Amino acid sequence: MQLGYDEGMDRIFLQREATRLKVVHRQRVQRQGDADPAPAFSAAELPASVVSAAAAGWQRLLETEYESVVIAGWMTSALARLGAPLDVIGAFGRVVEDEIRHVDICAQMVERFGGRPSVPRAAVPPVPLQLEPGTEGEFEVLSGLVSFFCVFEHLSGLVFRQALGAAQVGLARWALSEIFRDEAFHGAFGYEAAKLYVPSWDEARRARLGQRVVADVRRFEQRLGGPLPAEAEARPPDPEAEALERLGLLSTPALLGTFYAGVQQQLLPRMAELGVPLDLRVERRA
Ligand SMILES: [Fe+2]
Ligand SMILES: [Fe+2]
Repeated sequence: MQLGYDEGMDRIFLQREATRLKVVHRQRVQRQGDADPAPAFSAAELPASVVSAAAAGWQRLLETEYESVVIAGWMTSALARLGAPLDVIGAFGRVVEDEIRHVDICAQMVERFGGRPSVPRAAVPPVPLQLEPGTEGEFEVLSGLVSFFCVFEHLSGLVFRQALGAAQVGLARWALSEIFRDEAFHGAFGYEAAKLYVPSWDEARRARLGQRVVADVRRFEQRLGGPLPAEAEARPPDPEAEALERLGLLSTPALLGTFYAGVQQQLLPRMAELGVPLDLRVERRA
């Protein structure tokens, strides 16, 4: 029998189409026939170092998209247990589907560059048992919602848009535009859901949420490779970094520039609208 994963201590090799459900999955990935097919692409003319860096870069994106499947599924279940309105639960259910599609697209990209798509084994996020208003469980779930959707998804939507702007190779533009078309909404779903709960919290709870958001922003900055010394931030990309940008993979300074602008221009005012104060100053030297 073929399992959905390879035996391995710490990684799972992805399979995309292993059962008759592949028909349903293919419809999802191809958006019921609306999606353009992936354009032709040959890696033969690219230097081997660029090809392997591109495989690694798309593999890293795949891992964050896969994590989004786990978190959005967890969030959908928690929102249902909180008794959120159906339109909110439905929006998060839609995110789960979108993220599965994104994982498939990233997996196609990894394979095109000669890699084998896989994800790390990791624990399932715990869903708190007590979700009544005012409980620690409710705070955990809703601060998780803000942290994942209002911070991470929202800012990564901006990063995808930037990557799409820089990508020149048809295949990369195809993959990024298929992903960005969904990502553009995921952060907004988070704010819409958070608006139902967070503004009515007392000041102490909102301040605690603000501290969590600040810590999340710092963690996200580190994940993108920051903070960088000023001279590294201003340095123009080397030829390999330029080749990777054409393949949809932004350099660390470009990622950080978009991230800092997003925090400054979007995150701070939107969190203020929710009544969440942020003691946060991001570096923006680029
Ligand atoms: Fe995604
Ligand atoms: Fe997303």
